[in-house]
Amino acid sequence: MTRSTGFATRAIHHAYNPLENGGALTPPLHLTSTFSFETAEAGGEMFAGEREGHIYSRISNPTCDLLERRIATLEGAEAGLALSSGMGAITAVLWTLLSPGDEVIVDKTLYGCTFAFMRHGLAKWGVTITHVDMTDPENLRAAVSDKTRVVYFETPANPNMRLVDIAANAEIAHSVGAQVVVDNTYASPYLTRPIEHGADIVLHSATKYLGGHGDVVAGLVVGTAEQIAEIRLVGMKDMTGAVMAPFNAMLILRGLKTLNLRMDRHCASARVVADFLEAHPAVETVSFPGLESFAQHDVALRQMSQSGAMIAFEVKSGLTGGIALMNGLSMIQRAVSLGDAETLIQHPASMTHSTYTPEERAEHGISDGLIRLSVGLEDVEDILADMEQALPYPARNAA
Ligand SMILES: Cc1ncc(COP(=O)(O)O)c(C=O)c1O
Repeated sequence: MTRSTGFATRAIHHAYNPLENGGALTPPLHLTSTFSFETAEAGGEMFAGEREGHIYSRISNPTCDLLERRIATLEGAEAGLALSSGMGAITAVLWTLLSPGDEVIVDKTLYGCTFAFMRHGLAKWGVTITHVDMTDPENLRAAVSDKTRVVYFETPANPNMRLVDIAANAEIAHSVGAQVVVDNTYASPYLTRPIEHGADIVLHSATKYLGGHGDVVAGLVVGTAEQIAEIRLVGMKDMTGAVMAPFNAMLILRGLKTLNLRMDRHCASARVVADFLEAHPAVETVSFPGLESFAQHDVALRQMSQSGAMIAFEVKSGLTGGIALMNGLSMIQRAVSLGDAETLIQHPASMTHSTYTPEERAEHGISDGLIRLSVGLEDVEDILADMEQALPYPARNAA
């Protein structure tokens, strides 16, 4: 093919030819831990990096390899790496990039286990963690120094939906030679491709939209071929062993084939739900990048092709009302995780972000009453009906 193909086409076809695989339309699942060498010398050459080929599935595997090529093309990166979970991806990347004495500057809002890894994991090994509110890039400018090795953020951030302007913050990070690592889990490459805005490394909890069906825990990383080779051999092979199982790679490959269709539906429904919540008299605040009232709506327009399907909101009666709402739902599931076909609701302060102390949550903008909604693929009328009957008092009858 001479012309470059579109996102959906690459998600379905990239790097696989059935005719090279006995005609099998679906890529084979390589359930093997190890690989035979043609000769002893050939094995030695592979270990020395002088010959291409698979050695052992903690380093590489053909099913994972196909997934790695697919996520790389979808993110616009040179190379990809498949890991056992989003946390496996995050730890493998940071263990590879950082040494004692280095500083990592992170945004104020992070997924709870990422926050815990930084504060209680990395910090134990002599890495300095500095939290900066990156919603204003000038805060990063004031914080960077020649010790800053990595600038790390999520956009939209879990759970309060704050956005980070990737291009503005990347330019500042690069001025001191730091690498920019972006967690793109909430947006997916269909909505945002951080490398196009200046990021160096992009990672995912593939458990979420990329898998899309709530049946697998997985992580993915993309970057340059050189960066990925180093993360593979240091962070994944030696430091974490957080390798993706080939069966899980197959599930993510299947999920990617419908990513664009699912995201279009997720985003359209989320917009309807966000409008409904904003107009509802029982609701105090709604954070959703597509709303004109959203403080960083302009950043969303610059770097997101659609507004995503995650909504953070607070009801007027605070935590008590939020808990009553969650307990009153019948179809929407009370569950952590996100990006599944099912609409999921959870309470960050007592669940995903309970790794923060109450003081840390207050400092990092995660209020006790905040509720996080992952809008699923059901009929949107049914999502609205369930929300309406469970909200502390009815929308339509209120004055
Ligand atoms: C934004 C974000 N990053 C990373 C992770 C960790 O991913 P995993 O649960 O696949 O380890 C999560 C999990 O919820 C997340 O929401």
